[in-house]
Amino acid sequence: MKILKFNCIDSTNTYGKTNFDTLEDRTAIIADEQTHGKGRFNRVWVSNNSSNIYLSLVLKPQNITYIANLTQYMSVAAAKVLSTYNVQPQIKWPNDVLINNRKICGILSEGVLKNHKPSGVVLGIGINLNYDPETINKIDRPATSLNIETGKNINKEEFLQKLLNTFFENYENVIQKGFETFKEDYLKYTDFLGKTVYIQQRDNDKKEQYIAKKIDNNGNLIVIDSQNKEKIIYSGDLIY
Ligand code: BTN
Repeated sequence: MKILKFNCIDSTNTYGKTNFDTLEDRTAIIADEQTHGKGRFNRVWVSNNSSNIYLSLVLKPQNITYIANLTQYMSVAAAKVLSTYNVQPQIKWPNDVLINNRKICGILSEGVLKNHKPSGVVLGIGINLNYDPETINKIDRPATSLNIETGKNINKEEFLQKLLNTFFENYENVIQKGFETFKEDYLKYTDFLGKTVYIQQRDNDKKEQYIAKKIDNNGNLIVIDSQNKEKIIYSGDLIY
């Protein structure tokens, strides 16, 4: 695996996409700060704290059948590493990682096309490792960081190494067989099944109310609507 480190960059995802053709498969792009950190749904990912993680992986697998499952797979890898610090991470479908209902980690996967065909992904992850409580409260959504949850300063290099090892440990398997290879692990970190949830497709859209029934073998969320009908949710934000 190749690692590229930057002090400050616009966005590790943007760098990965712009230079996709020349970057090797499995290149990790790491920045201390990002000036234009991107979140899902065109949100901003605040990225001005060099003791947090801003990482993107350039992935160009031969078999692209299951690349859409890599975001959920990364959320499991992050949850596994977080749990080695004696905290209890939860995954909020599809791939946010929370501790005590506050977000600690976000994942943004961006597909790359070549001649109109998918040729790989840039898989970006931001993890709050060390934040001071006052600054974190300025983020417009409930957020936390690992130092706040553990009461200890977190070593970023050590966390990064654990994350990359955990991710690549089972990566080949996921590429060949998809969500089913890590479904059991994913479910261990979820606690919304059976509950009333709201789904929002985009910011400002209406929130639809459902009961979360299960996660299917492709990682989609199966819900029950107010007419008692099952519906498959492929993307969106879960609120509960
Ligand atoms: C989310 O909205 O939850 C996804 C946040 C993803 C943030 C990471 S930080 C590293 C990479 N570069 C970006 O610009 N975004 C992702």
